[in-house]
Amino acid sequence: MKVTILTQFPDMFGPVTSSILGRAAEKGLLEISVVNIRDYTLDKHRKTDDTPFGGGAGMVMTPQPAFDALRACGAEGRRILYMSPRGPILDQKLAEDLAQEQEFFILCGHYEGVDERILQAWNMEEVSIGDYILTGGELAAMVLVDCVSRLIPGVLGSGDSLSEESIYSGLLEYPQYTKPRSYDGLDVPEVLFNGNHKLIHLWQYEQSLRLTAQRRPDLLKRYLDSKPNLTKDEKKILERVLQETQSIE
Ligand code: ADE
Repeated sequence: MKVTILTQFPDMFGPVTSSILGRAAEKGLLEISVVNIRDYTLDKHRKTDDTPFGGGAGMVMTPQPAFDALRACGAEGRRILYMSPRGPILDQKLAEDLAQEQEFFILCGHYEGVDERILQAWNMEEVSIGDYILTGGELAAMVLVDCVSRLIPGVLGSGDSLSEESIYSGLLEYPQYTKPRSYDGLDVPEVLFNGNHKLIHLWQYEQSLRLTAQRRPDLLKRYLDSKPNLTKDEKKILERVLQETQSIE
């Protein structure tokens, strides 16, 4: 996969892109290219933004450097994301969808945003990472690329395969423990030592369900609507957890 990030602040990406994506990049599965929009401005002061028509605070990215940068990096006809709080919020489904792409582009804006004609002419897809306002799209782009990179086929080793996640997909993660078995009087739950993998899985599934019911009832509802393919034992646990959590409400 090749991701090209267009930004007025390329320095923000240096160490982050190499560490987050080290594993994907090492295996040659992901190439990230950061393009400085300022390199394409024809303005004699190297300006890439200007004051908004109609007045108001802040500066707006001008069309010329953005159009030229996009053309120079071959973005014509390709999928181009624009990081913006106006877009739909990034979720695992969008990340999985992007992980199927051979190539896509991300434009990062700053200050008050970019001239609307850039978004329209290049048919950009706006994406937000949450209902809060960042100073620019760069951190949002890094979040998006990080979360897509681990979904590229072959990036994760077999030890941490995603198939395990899929049983729980849409649920919050169950609690994890490691050595020592007892630390400062705090014990790891007994069930994890019984060697019965089916029992252990059912316990973990129940923990995931309980956490999701308590903390993110919206996610639990979506999970139930997705009609997960469950074994008889899993179904029993699900019914019990639903009964118990509903009686609390
Ligand atoms: N730019 C500024 N705020 C943002 C957000 N929440 N998501 C994506 N891009 C942004």
